[in-house]
Amino acid sequence: HITDDLDLEKTLFSEDEIRNRLGELAKRIESDYDGEDLLLVGVLKGAVMVMADLARTLDRHVEMDWMAISSYGSGTTSSGVVRILKDLDADITGRHVLVVEDIIDTGLTLSWLISNLRSRGPASVEICTLLRKPDAQKMSVDVRYVGFDIANEFVVGYGLDYAEKYRNLRSIGTLAPHVYS
Ligand code: PRP
Ligand code: MN
Ligand code: MG
Repeated sequence: HITDDLDLEKTLFSEDEIRNRLGELAKRIESDYDGEDLLLVGVLKGAVMVMADLARTLDRHVEMDWMAISSYGSGTTSSGVVRILKDLDADITGRHVLVVEDIIDTGLTLSWLISNLRSRGPASVEICTLLRKPDAQKMSVDVRYVGFDIANEFVVGYGLDYAEKYRNLRSIGTLAPHVYS
């Protein structure tokens, strides 16, 4: 796929590898939520691809809802304070919620989001992320489903952006140096 090849220095996960891993996670999710209503909550915009593919891989009915959130400020220090740009349409009281993310980096986004969702009285809140970086281990929230643990390097593709570009790459990889210069 040419758009992937032009700008990636190194492919970390191909389309096939992503599909296979989502298939494994989907089997666990099907089993864990057997007989239960399930609401998938995607975090815009990075989680769009994972959400679309995971939802279609799941061999069961699910509902999908979305949140858009933004960290306050764009300075060098991350406060962990987040504001909601688009809230859920659904009332999650008493429901089983599975948050779907593309990546957990510092973990600040999700630790805030999880405590926000818990305060709404759901039956359960769990996390499914395709990628997880090392710093996320410091996060106080448990992640139930992890696609791949990766090193602390900047990755793009499959929803993950660099300045809003590269989200539509089919694979995930590191950017070639010429992109930055
Ligand atoms: C990225 C990514 C996660 C978050 C992880 O989203 O999609 O949502 O950062 O970072 P953290 O663990 O350090 O909080 P971003 O804020 O770039 O928005 P986007 O999804 O629209 O790209
Ligand atoms: Mn995101
Ligand atoms: Mg981003």
